[in-house]
Amino acid sequence: MFEHMQTEPNCYGNLLNGEWVASSSKETIDIHSPVDGSKLGRIQAMTQAEADRAIAATKESLPGWSALPVYERAELFYKAAQLLEESAQEIADILVMEVAKEKKSALSEIIRSADLLRYTADIGKSLEGQAISGENFPGGTRRKISYVERVPLGTVLAISPFNYPVNLSISKIAPALIGGNAVILKPATQGAVSALHMVEVLNRAGLPKGILNTVTGRGSQIGDYVVTHKGIDFINFTGSTEIGRHISQISCMTPLLLELGGKDAAIVLEDADLNFAADTIVDGAYSYSGQRCTAVKRILATPAVADRLVPKLQKRVEGLSVGDPRDGKTITPLIDGKAADFAQSLIDDALRQGARLVTGNRREGNLLYPTLLDGVTPDMKIAWVEPFAPVLPVLRVRDIDDAIALANQSEYGLQSSVFTDDVNKAFYIANRLEVGTVQINNKTERGPDHFPFLGVKASGMGTQGVKYSILAMTRPKAITLNLREE
Ligand code: NAP
Ligand code: G3H
Repeated sequence: MFEHMQTEPNCYGNLLNGEWVASSSKETIDIHSPVDGSKLGRIQAMTQAEADRAIAATKESLPGWSALPVYERAELFYKAAQLLEESAQEIADILVMEVAKEKKSALSEIIRSADLLRYTADIGKSLEGQAISGENFPGGTRRKISYVERVPLGTVLAISPFNYPVNLSISKIAPALIGGNAVILKPATQGAVSALHMVEVLNRAGLPKGILNTVTGRGSQIGDYVVTHKGIDFINFTGSTEIGRHISQISCMTPLLLELGGKDAAIVLEDADLNFAADTIVDGAYSYSGQRCTAVKRILATPAVADRLVPKLQKRVEGLSVGDPRDGKTITPLIDGKAADFAQSLIDDALRQGARLVTGNRREGNLLYPTLLDGVTPDMKIAWVEPFAPVLPVLRVRDIDDAIALANQSEYGLQSSVFTDDVNKAFYIANRLEVGTVQINNKTERGPDHFPFLGVKASGMGTQGVKYSILAMTRPKAITLNLREE
């Protein structure tokens, strides 16, 4: 099913007008596995002229696609969902090697994406226009009627990160397409092989030629060009705050949806079930080696709570399996050596400044053992910086208000967790936290994918989630009917 994506052995083309094509530059990028360094294949380093062509092709396909009745667009999504499920094992095996994600999580990423396709089709069909009578506003009459429907924005540029190459691409592509837009996908370079396979599934489902094209190449080389391209009508970006900020600075007047970094806090109160909290926090902080925007990235607790919680966390962290994702391990090599060096520098800084190492701080190449630090103080970098690695700091706070203040002092505002059996305290805290979502008695997490998902402050702008994403990538179009007086 996927062989024809290769323009020469083990070299993946870009989808352009329904065909997989090589770059005329003859320049390719080697993709190596973070698991064992093996070469997984090559992708194209596209030229600016080729990006122009890919964007121009979307413009030619747009009128036909956006004119198609939404139920016909939806039919393609149902077919694509089924094809994606049929290819789940094959794509999951690629994910395992390309981004070092263990097989169960890789499969769940793909199944979640198939579910998202079906749900997006359902929501797309259920969106209705509106007729508004003029009579409700002072001086208005019933003879003035506004007919309002949602129309596409045009060509959406979807830029996805390495950690969910399939799901964080499809969660942009599907709502954009059901809304009648065309899409240019620029996947993360590490993750592109998996993402391109998912694109071929959509292509096979029968998307019209040119309505979804891909652009590969290093973000540092081709990124600014596509972001500032006059043919791009909306940018839907997930990735680091650094690149998100950069995009927002250069993308003049192009509407944006940005999902960026986080420093999600878990606030644990005295009355919480500490065994449950420890299980949930360890899952939230260490799954996929902490390489999730929504990973629990700090614990805030009073000394009385921390003294009881930390030994429970330690036991669970020391029980995590470490090693090769092909063997189903939880803690797997980080995406590259640079990421491991960065996380190590945060651990070293904390230890130098007097944090207590509870467990971990062991390293084999880019494999970092799960690390738990207690007694972390606000002057240590790990208190504020996102490690994107299996490193969890515990900060001891005076009381609930101190925890809220420390949580809000972060530049980030993605999510927070509160563990307590007291609903009044839970709401007291939740109402004061400056984040997109507060999870009461749960880890911080994005799903289910129809919930709103958003970050405030340096964690992003705009809202994702199936219906929210469709609304973000369409706009109201009003046609006002003025009836003659009888
Ligand atoms: P990243 O380095 O910011 O890269 C994200 C994407 O941006 C990649 O496709 C990258 O391409 C591209 N890019 C780089 N420079 C660009 C430029 N100048 N113009 C346009 N695109 C450019 O992030 P990452 O390392 O892949 O992912 C980890 C980060 O993403 C973490 O900070 C994490 O918190 C965040 N994240 C946030 C969410 C959320 O929903 N809030 C979800 C997942 C991840 P190349 O790969 O070719 O450089
Ligand atoms: O990395 C960021 C993802 O949006 C997190 O998704 O909470 O489902 O792991 P998740």
